[in-house]
Amino acid sequence: MSSAKSSLRIAVIGGGISGLFAALSLHYHCGSQVSIDIYEQASQYKEIGAGVGIGVNAVKLLDKIGLGERVAAISGDRNGVWISFRRFDDNAEIITVPAVEGKVRQCSVHRAEFLDILLAAIKERGAARLWTNKQCRSISNNGSDVTVHFVDNTSSTADLVIGCDGIHSVIRSQYIVDKPQYSGRIAYRGLVPIERLKPWWPFPSYSASWLGIDKHFLAYPISKNDTLNIVAFVTEDESPLDGLQESWTATATRGELASKFADFSPTVRGIIEKMPQLPTKWLLNDREQIHQWVFEGGRVVLMGDAAHAMLPHQGTGAGQSIEDGYVLSRAIQDYLQRQPRRTLEAYTQLYQQVRLPRVQRAQETSRQAGHVYEMQTSEMVGLSYDDCLPIVCEQLKDRMKWVWNENLDEAYERARSVGIDN
Ligand SMILES: Cc1cc2nc3c(=O)[nH]c(=O)nc-3n(C[C@H](O)[C@H](O)[C@H](O)COP(=O)(O)OP(=O)(O)OC[C@H]3O[C@@H](n4cnc5c(N)ncnc54)[C@H](O)[C@@H]3O)c2cc1C
Ligand SMILES: *[C@@H]1O[C@H](CO)[C@@H](O)[C@H](O)[C@H]1NC(C)=O
Ligand SMILES: *[C@@H]1O[C@H](CO)[C@@H](O)[C@H](O)[C@H]1NC(C)=O
Ligand SMILES: *[C@@H]1O[C@H](CO)[C@@H](O)[C@H](O)[C@H]1NC(C)=O
Repeated sequence: MSSAKSSLRIAVIGGGISGLFAALSLHYHCGSQVSIDIYEQASQYKEIGAGVGIGVNAVKLLDKIGLGERVAAISGDRNGVWISFRRFDDNAEIITVPAVEGKVRQCSVHRAEFLDILLAAIKERGAARLWTNKQCRSISNNGSDVTVHFVDNTSSTADLVIGCDGIHSVIRSQYIVDKPQYSGRIAYRGLVPIERLKPWWPFPSYSASWLGIDKHFLAYPISKNDTLNIVAFVTEDESPLDGLQESWTATATRGELASKFADFSPTVRGIIEKMPQLPTKWLLNDREQIHQWVFEGGRVVLMGDAAHAMLPHQGTGAGQSIEDGYVLSRAIQDYLQRQPRRTLEAYTQLYQQVRLPRVQRAQETSRQAGHVYEMQTSEMVGLSYDDCLPIVCEQLKDRMKWVWNENLDEAYERARSVGIDN
């Protein structure tokens, strides 16, 4: 009991991938030295949406905290392929980018199945208290405690607040005035049982992307190859979108999707025929980079999409959020265990310092990747489709290496030796 009393009280706002992973990693690194509450606005911990890719950089971290096997068990199997990029019209290979294979590998998962793994681990390990129907309205700070105010007029105090409340973060908006940015592209999404595609699927992997000018069509397997996750991207001006909200639930007809991809190969058109009648329709937004994620003298930090919403074109949004939670946990562990003790602010600043440049590069290159896939970069404008292809190959072949190969522990320790140990 006395240890619980003196432990660092952490309030995690938002129970998505960032919030749940951060809680697990903090518990793993700090044990009973932290006492964690997770406050989720919804009435249950639940994910909507479909597939999400988790790069090997983030799978390594899941493995470190003991969840590697469980995540691999719900993942799709891409047969060693990250993405096989193909011509839109005749399926010919443009370039096939391999994925890292082995016990720890690229995983692509159903979001709901992945969240269930995180949630089950929190419960098994007693890593955090899980609250629902707790929508944060604001944060205040009286110099010794940070207070989280909820919409139901209750409040709660903590030593550290972690804002994991997504792209529309209330916590971010308390410190930074900006809005989500429309990327110029929309996406149609849907799931198809692989059973229905098996007889005619022509490639050695279920992970493929067909590239056309101003459009591309991405497929990858989730749920142990039971399901193909489809995301069909189309460049569109915002004006004709009729106020389509950045909503998780807006839908379009399958006919609308089919007409957009009418000039794509019979394989693509065949997949669309097997999609649900009402695919979801999304506006793809990100946020401009911000240079500060740490506020209130180090007692409030932003994490995940709240800190750095990015476009999905490199499949790195969730992975970067997982990296955030891992690095913050190492910093909090050091804050609690190293002597002489430095301030909490020194360690939350260290978190920001390690994460910011890498995340900003991911935000920036995710935007660029969308332009490469749809042949919109300055070098490709005005070129014929065939003349674009060598440029596309060059741009894609090593694109993901810096994301996947990072040794996050080393990066953290390097920054600590400069920032704290000196
Ligand atoms: C439905 C959905 C589908 C997505 N699909 C993809 C994809 O296919 N590929 C990809 O790369 N990325 C995708 N993204 C983005 C990617 O998943 C995120 O980068 C990653 O999940 C980071 O999530 P997060 O936990 O930071 O935010 P989120 O997943 O948005 O979670 C935020 C959580 O905070 C809660 N919350 C919000 N406001 C408050 C508040 N005021 N008080 C309390 N709780 C609050 C929300 O209910 C939610 O549970 C998707 C995001 C969502 C939400
Ligand atoms: C700050 O707020 C907390 C929680 O309400 C309270 O216990 C504490 O005494 C306050 N401290 C100061 C310096 O006002
Ligand atoms: C919260 O307090 C405000 C102001 O007193 C009141 O108007 C509102 O109805 C309360 N909300 C809830 C959910 O109790
Ligand atoms: C998934 O599909 C790929 C490509 O067809 C295949 O090589 C692999 O064995 C499959 N994996 C599982 C677990 O079914």
